[in-house]
Amino acid sequence: MKITAITIFPEYFAPMKLSLIGKAIESNLISFKTVDLREFTTDNHRTVDDTPYGGGAGMVMKPEPWGEAIDAELVGGGEVLDLIILTPSGARFNQSKARELAASKNLVFACGRYEGIDARVAEHYKQVAGARVHEISIGDYVLNGGEVAALVIIEAITRLIPGVIGNPESLLEESHNEIGEVEYPVYTKPTIWRGLEVPEVLTSGNHGEIARWRREEGLRRSESLRKSE
Ligand code: ADE
Repeated sequence: MKITAITIFPEYFAPMKLSLIGKAIESNLISFKTVDLREFTTDNHRTVDDTPYGGGAGMVMKPEPWGEAIDAELVGGGEVLDLIILTPSGARFNQSKARELAASKNLVFACGRYEGIDARVAEHYKQVAGARVHEISIGDYVLNGGEVAALVIIEAITRLIPGVIGNPESLLEESHNEIGEVEYPVYTKPTIWRGLEVPEVLTSGNHGEIARWRREEGLRRSESLRKSE
């Protein structure tokens, strides 16, 4: 899988060197690069934003540098490019979207800032053969830009690629499955910590009972989460 992040702040992606993703890059399971959007400006000030048509507060990212930067990723063709545009008004990211994107060979993250990217950029690439556009939000809140959202999505996607996480069995026992159920609570040693005991069933050695308890606890947690939403 090839991953590219287009941004005006490439430094935001320093954590890509760390932990399991860092190792996956080192062992060529995935490749990652940042592209500095300002490299695709043509004026002395390297301007990437301008005032919004129709008025209003804030600035909007100009379409031209985005077009040039994304076109450069399309050159060479081959694999379909999945263009992910991070925006609070996109479709909410979830585990099944992570799974869909984990099958991609070529992911490009467009990390907008300010009030967002001129809407014609998404519109244009929806019509370009060889590109699939995904406008994605990671939650109902507004970030300063798409970089942190891209990191969240990259982590959720790459850990689904075979070989990226050490123990593939932990993928089977995921704490968030596709139908929105969460996992049971987990415990380790010691059996009593600050007066709090590990549920007895877990130390019983009865695997049938343990499996049943975990299923029930998972369902109970999912229900109370849904109620609080
Ligand atoms: N950019 C700003 N806020 C965002 C959000 N919630 N999700 C994705 N991208 C964003």
